[in-house]
This record gives sequence, structure tokens and C-alpha cells, in this order.
Amino acid sequence: MSGSNVKASKGIAGMILAAVIGVPLFVYLLIKLFTSGSGIDITRSTMTTEAVSARLQPVGSIKIVDGGPPGSKSGKAVYESLCISCHGTGLAGAPKFADAADWGARISKGFETLWTHAIQGFNAMPAKGGAADLTDDEVKRAVAFMGNSAGAKFEEPKVEGAAAGAAVDPATKGKEIYDSVCMACHTAGLAGAPKFGDKADWAPRLKDGVDNAIAIAIKGINAMPPKGGYSGSDAEFAAAAHYIINASK
Ligand code: HEC
Ligand code: HEC
Repeated sequence: MSGSNVKASKGIAGMILAAVIGVPLFVYLLIKLFTSGSGIDITRSTMTTEAVSARLQPVGSIKIVDGGPPGSKSGKAVYESLCISCHGTGLAGAPKFADAADWGARISKGFETLWTHAIQGFNAMPAKGGAADLTDDEVKRAVAFMGNSAGAKFEEPKVEGAAAGAAVDPATKGKEIYDSVCMACHTAGLAGAPKFGDKADWAPRLKDGVDNAIAIAIKGINAMPPKGGYSGSDAEFAAAAHYIINASK
């Protein structure tokens, strides 16, 4: 009598144990089954609430220094953030911006002499205008920008990456960027984003041409932050955009 009671309670304990371990395991496996292959992995770092909301920050708080990585500042951006402090008004004898008379004799020294002086310093002109963290190319771009404002025809050194633009492959690099950045919104159509692979979503956006759509996306539009928050080059962003668009035509 008491023996069968022990057996029965052992049996019940076994069933409870099975339920405690087995049910969550079953649910876990079910979830795995349904989320694998859907392309949305909720554990991915790019899909966390923080990561998504970081990308939804207003434009001003995304750190984009004139569109990109260190060394990519344009001549205009360097001039306006620094050189203007002396060259805007002609402080301490600095040749004034857009003043052909001030610049004429200097321009005839040639681009190379001018940027060498700008990089190394020249009398009251401090080396790199005092900003040692500017790259040589950024200073050269600023020299070209100022010289050209006063009639020169200097060519700003290209931003690395932009020149190699055509070489960025949408199917590999583009996909990689899509998977880590763009999919957060474009897979599910978050905030009105045109969905990946959805022809009807994409058609109206492509009516003025693919390049036009990409240019809009680089600048950002409504809930689409500039470059989708991607911090790499325009060419890389374009590869990601081509990857999405190719799948949605
Ligand atoms: C602190 C003031 C100051 C700042 C900031 C400054 N400059 Fe100058 N710059 C001068 C002065 C003064 C001269 C004239 C020097 C002379 O001819 O004796 C000059 C001259 C130049 C020249 C002509 C050199 C030549 O060979 O005639 C270039 C080019 C130039 N600056 C580029 C730049 C660039 C690019 C920047 C920003 C990155 C910059 N400067 C920032 C004061 C400044
Ligand atoms: C934070 C969400 C978000 C992320 C991340 C994002 N996008 Fe978008 N994207 C949007 C939204 C929303 C729109 C639609 C904006 C509108 O027209 O109102 C859009 C529109 C676009 C368009 C169409 C622009 C047009 O002309 O209408 C392109 C192209 C695009 N995104 C590419 C990308 C690429 C490439 C990435 C990744 C590098 C990316 N997006 C990342 C939200 C996002």
C-alpha cells in the first residue's frame, strides 16, 4: 500500500519534472524552427532596440563629418570650418577668399607650391592652418577650393573610395552592408521603408531612375536617415542600394 504510494508519487514527480524541462525546451525549439530562415534574427546586434533607435536618431546627432571617414573632408568643409577664420577677412595679411587681386600672384606659384606652404606653414600662415589632424589631402582640397574661388583651376584630390566606387560589388559588399544596416528597416518595411524584394514598393521610387533614388537616400528622406545611418563611403552605400533595388525590380 505505502509502496505503491511512493511509486505513484515518483511517477507524478517525474511528470512534473518532464513538464518543467520539456515544455520550455519544446517552445524554444518551436521558436527556433519558425525564426530560422526567416531572415530576421532577433538576437542580431543590428536588430536590438538600441541599434535600431540609434539609427532613428535625428540627422544632427549622427556623426557624419561632411559625409564620411577621417580624411574625407571636402575643400569647402575644411575652408568653412577653419581657413575662413583668417582667409575670410584677410587677417594678418592672409590672401582673402575670392579676391583675385590677393590671389593672382600666389596662384601663379602653382598648386604644388601653395599646398606645400599650406601644409608646412608659410610666414604668418600656420602649418595646416593650425589643425594638425587634417590630412595632407584635406589641406590640398582646401587650397584648391580657395584658389578656385579666386580664378584658379586647381583640382581637389579625390576622396579615396569615391574614386574606386565602381569596384564595390553589390552582390558581396552591398549584401554585407544590407545585412548589417539596411535590413533593420527594409526587411519589414519599418517606418514606411520600401520592402526588400517588393516590386510594388519600389516601382514608384525608381521611376526617375536608380541613380536618382540612391542620391535621395544618400541625403536622407523623412524616416530614412542619410545613408541609412551607414558611415562608410557613398560608393559602398550605393552598392547596398543596388543590392536592394536589383532584388526588387
Ligand atoms: C591663423 C590664420 C590663418 C589660418 C587659420 C589659415 N591661414 Fe593660410 N595664410 C595665412 C596668412 C597670414 C597667409 C599669408 C602668408 C604670407 O604670404 O606671408 C596665408 C597664406 C596661405 C596660402 C598662400 C601660400 C603662398 O605660398 O602664397 C595658402 C595656400 C593658404 N594660406 C592656405 C590655407 C589653408 C588651406 C588654410 C586652412 C586649412 C589656411 N590657410 C588657414 C593665415 C592663415
Ligand atoms: C532607420 C530605418 C532605415 C534604415 C536603417 C535604412 N533605411 Fe532606406 N529608407 C527608410 C525609409 C523609411 C525610406 C522611405 C522614406 C520616404 O520616402 O519617406 C527609405 C528609403 C530608401 C530608398 C529610396 C529613396 C527614394 O528615392 O525614395 C533607398 C534607395 C534606401 N532607403 C536605401 C537604403 C540603404 C541602402 C540602406 C542601408 C545602407 C538603408 N536604406 C537603411 C528607412 C531606412
